[in-house]
Amino acid sequence: MVSLTDIKTTKKTLTNLETEVLFIGIHKGKQLNSTEKALDNVLGGSLSRVIDVEKFNGKEKKELLCYGNDEIKRVVIIGLGESKKYSTDVARSIGSNITRYANLLMVSNFSVAGESFGLKKNNYAQAFAEGLTLGSYEFNNYKTKKEEDPKAEFVLVSGNINKKSLDKGLIIGLSVAFARDLSNHPANILTPSYLAKESKQIADAHPAMECTVFDGKEFKKMGMGAFHGVAMGATEPAKMIIVEYNGGAKSQKPVALVGKGLTFDSGGISLKPPPKMDEMKFDMCGSATVMGVLRAVSELKPKINIIFAIGSTENMPGSNAQRPGDIVTAYNGKTIEVLNTDAEGRLVLADVLAYVNKNYEPEAIIDFATLTGAVLVALGNRASGVMGNNDKLMKEVKKASETTGEKVWELPLWKEYCSSIKGKYADIQNMGEARLAGTISAGVFLKEFVDDTPWVHMDIAGTAWGPKEPSYQPKVGATGVAVRLVYQFLENRK
Ligand code: BES
Ligand code: MN
Ligand code: ZN
Repeated sequence: MVSLTDIKTTKKTLTNLETEVLFIGIHKGKQLNSTEKALDNVLGGSLSRVIDVEKFNGKEKKELLCYGNDEIKRVVIIGLGESKKYSTDVARSIGSNITRYANLLMVSNFSVAGESFGLKKNNYAQAFAEGLTLGSYEFNNYKTKKEEDPKAEFVLVSGNINKKSLDKGLIIGLSVAFARDLSNHPANILTPSYLAKESKQIADAHPAMECTVFDGKEFKKMGMGAFHGVAMGATEPAKMIIVEYNGGAKSQKPVALVGKGLTFDSGGISLKPPPKMDEMKFDMCGSATVMGVLRAVSELKPKINIIFAIGSTENMPGSNAQRPGDIVTAYNGKTIEVLNTDAEGRLVLADVLAYVNKNYEPEAIIDFATLTGAVLVALGNRASGVMGNNDKLMKEVKKASETTGEKVWELPLWKEYCSSIKGKYADIQNMGEARLAGTISAGVFLKEFVDDTPWVHMDIAGTAWGPKEPSYQPKVGATGVAVRLVYQFLENRK
């Protein structure tokens, strides 16, 4: 969770502030501006002295601590690098550095000279607030020894800054943190029922939202044989969670967001090797992305219709588990040979995608899944792999990616690849040729379940946990990947 949950603005000039610590940004090669000089005078020249002694030149991320007076106790000057290279993503990471610095100083509140960080521009203000919030993220839920040092909780931003943009950044930051929390909980706590309960709680508090939860027991009757096959091995009850959000006109078709919610993936009978198997608690990060967006939507209320859908179960071995070679029938009637029970995510998604496609006729579908280890081989943990069947929708996703700094890279779903999943005994099989184009094989498999509806699949197996940079990423655990990207995407559409 985050400690920083309160951002306020003030029009007071710097010299009139009262604060534990004031943060000021300076670009490479730039001097103090006139209000900062006035502050320097009030503080007896302590800012200019430190700048001089330390030969400060505004280099990115360089931090200078100066002591002030009774009103402004400390000033921290932060290098912003070259103004040409300054971007919303740099502002986001500077924001997180500031909160981390405030935590080191053990202050619960601090101030920021907003205009010096470029926050007059609303998109910079939003990104900076996201950074401030995420910089205070920690997951200590299971540590019994509580830290007693004060943590950054409240920030005052001075200058002519749009409060709405800061608030939006805060809400989005909190929603990313929510996705991280869900992901970081271990599988013995965070079960499919837990996800269902959290979704219900958010939806129940909002008149424009309706949550329906389907039990694993119903899957077979509903015709979801692929999802049912995966859920068979687990004693922990499986759930399909659907939240309908009606923020737009009745006539407007919804956008559907679908998440893989494997609360633990042991591989099933095709059991995974022990090293890093603990990380398979993160196999529900796709559903965490969907729920992070759900939380953001519940507060920011965009004027658009959305279907949030999650397929959640464990993938376990056992005498009830499905076997390699089993043939199951998916919701859209296609038969699937399960060659490897560890390729379970695509089986679960197959049914949820087909269900959503048939019952809601969405205008567009985007799914999020920690689907293949192969995407790590291809892209490492710097970019999510994206694939789809519609160039226009793909462009929209890429545009939101560029705005938010959450990188994606497209892999092709050319028809030449489709033959790799042709089944020997059934229509299709759940894997392609071993070691070849694993991420694409999963993509062409999912493509079988969305008909011609514009659809993008995002493989987040490399990005959902692991990246430690930029600084707004957590030092350990889940990143809450794509919550920011998807919110931006929705906003561009409304
Ligand atoms: N959840 C895994 C993918 C994964 C692996 C995510 C490592 C993050 C890190 C997925 O269910 C899986 O096991 N995929 C298999 C597919 C294969 C059996 C065709 C894989 O990638 O090895
Ligand atoms: Mn698996
Ligand atoms: Zn999996």
